[in-house]
Amino acid sequence: MEGHSPPVPPLAAHGHLALSESELVDWGERFGRAARPPLVVAIAGELGAGKTTLARAICRGYGVPDEVTSPTFTLVHEYRGTRSPVYHLDLYRLKGQDDLANIGWDDIISSEALVLIEWPERAAELLPSDHVPILLQHLPDDPDRRLLYAGGHVGERKFGDHA
Ligand SMILES: Nc1ncnc2c1ncn2[C@@H]1O[C@H](COP(=O)(O)OP(=O)(O)O)[C@@H](O)[C@H]1O
Ligand SMILES: [Mg+2]
Repeated sequence: MEGHSPPVPPLAAHGHLALSESELVDWGERFGRAARPPLVVAIAGELGAGKTTLARAICRGYGVPDEVTSPTFTLVHEYRGTRSPVYHLDLYRLKGQDDLANIGWDDIISSEALVLIEWPERAAELLPSDHVPILLQHLPDDPDRRLLYAGGHVGERKFGDHA
């Protein structure tokens, strides 16, 4: 278990952190450095909430040397990290479970890899229950910060709820 505990700031597990983009990137890089496979990370949040920004930072911390771009149209990009492959998924355009089968979902989530999933709620009950949940939300009064929720309490919140 030790290798799986992410560096979740205590505040985030209880409520929220309001992070600037550079703070979010720092947090993501630390998370990536601490991550050990197999690990599935579900990154929820509306368009523009910072999911891809965070996924890119996690990849950098995990040792992915390549440029990480949004897999919006292909649903999945695969990278080579120093510790394992990395799968970065964006399920926004998922039409149904056939799409998941076509990208090899079962193999991906059961692989010895780091798996980062944007729009994880689209996978519904196919999302493995032992994922690390992260939620990013816009702040109505601050366009430069995002609320970060990470860890156990995210699962009790409805995706898209306001703080
Ligand atoms: N605190 C912040 N954290 C993350 N992104 C931010 C923040 N403040 C502003 N942004 C901007 O919001 C956008 C987030 O885009 P992106 O990461 O692609 O979101 P998503 O993948 O959730 O649609 C980027 O243009 C980024 O520069
Ligand atoms: Mg995105």
